[in-house]
Amino acid sequence: MLRNKQIILGVSGSIAAYKAVDLASRLSQAKTNIKVVMTKAATAFVTPLSFSAISGHTTVTDLFSSGDITHINITAHADCIIIAPATANTIAKLANGIGDNALTSIVLAAKCPLFIAPAMNERMWLNKATQANVALLRGRGVLFIGPRIGALACGDTGIGRMAEPDEIINYLRDFFIRQNQLANKHIIITAGGTEEIIDSIRFIGNRSSGKMGYALAEAAKARGAEVTLIAPPSELTAPGVRLVNVRTAADMHQAVLEGFAEADAVIMSAAVSDYHVANTCSSKIKKNNKPLILRLEPNVDILEELGKSKESQVLIGFAAEADDLISNAQKKLVAKNLDFIIANDINQRAGGFASNNNQAVIISNNDIEPLPLMTKRELADIIIDRLSAIISNT
Ligand SMILES: Cc1cc2nc3c(=O)[nH]c(=O)nc-3n(C[C@H](O)[C@H](O)[C@H](O)COP(=O)(O)O)c2cc1C
Repeated sequence: MLRNKQIILGVSGSIAAYKAVDLASRLSQAKTNIKVVMTKAATAFVTPLSFSAISGHTTVTDLFSSGDITHINITAHADCIIIAPATANTIAKLANGIGDNALTSIVLAAKCPLFIAPAMNERMWLNKATQANVALLRGRGVLFIGPRIGALACGDTGIGRMAEPDEIINYLRDFFIRQNQLANKHIIITAGGTEEIIDSIRFIGNRSSGKMGYALAEAAKARGAEVTLIAPPSELTAPGVRLVNVRTAADMHQAVLEGFAEADAVIMSAAVSDYHVANTCSSKIKKNNKPLILRLEPNVDILEELGKSKESQVLIGFAAEADDLISNAQKKLVAKNLDFIIANDINQRAGGFASNNNQAVIISNNDIEPLPLMTKRELADIIIDRLSAIISNT
């Protein structure tokens, strides 16, 4: 899949720059056509000559020395840009559209997918400015590979280690295999926890963070799908997809129904409230010493309704269960006419609602697939793999 791809490898000033030499070598062995662009700081760690020798092209370190409009020419036929390692500084520049060197100018001029493999000390990675910049870039559809947890150059152990060249190569290969897998497919994804109104300022909610649904949206978009993400307002950044903000289960129901007829698949990862308050108050309920009784009435079961009316749409649900995980999820799969269901044990310690990780079992009519603990983004890719397989068989 990498053969003959035109890849721009950006290298910025991290001690992990030596790994970029290995990455360039592997890309070259995979018969890609790589052009390397280095920041000035990167040249303090490795020489441009190393990359020129490996790639067979002069390494670009400066916009003004070549006599042509490098940043425009080099991007014209690029299939992707991968920046590895990416420093906190370069990430900040990219988030803010700064083009003060060859690498950042090239990214500004490019229309192809951008991958970033950050490398930095844990404190730099966790710095709020870096995290905000990463969120901004993710929101524009930039794909991050790592960073990983491990030994850092400064002697600390923590998050910030650059993904290994092997992992980056595999990621790129998977990306190109999957790139257009879901082109022209419309996928509706619901995420987060709905809120049921009590009065003008209070609501009944749940602890769903929406991270799983946002990860699914990113994974589906990476394969060329047109994604509509339906979710309550949150601090998460929608990964360059259409976002419809809703609050109540009734709003979510309506938003899903609006797109359902035209959709190829619906993934209901939202934690939808089973009940709403029947006796809501339009102003703030005043405190007094008497008991306050909220009458709860059942909400429409969105999945069940979609299951009854579905035609060719692929329908995927989630089951968060406290006990009898498999059998309860199987019952839901059948009752709601789903293509498959992702079952989560809500008692799991290492994953779950607000966590970045999840341990799940994918259950269909003829298979039970237990998966190991992994990041929600990794799980999202597996779910989208299963979805793509069903879509391509129909
Ligand atoms: C020895 C050394 C190692 C460094 N390693 C990193 C690193 O891993 N990640 C990072 O973000 N910055 C690192 N820096 C700081 C960057 O080199 C510095 O912010 C520089 O301005 C980055 O420029 P660039 O983004 O244009 O390459 C390091 C600096 C030194 C002196």
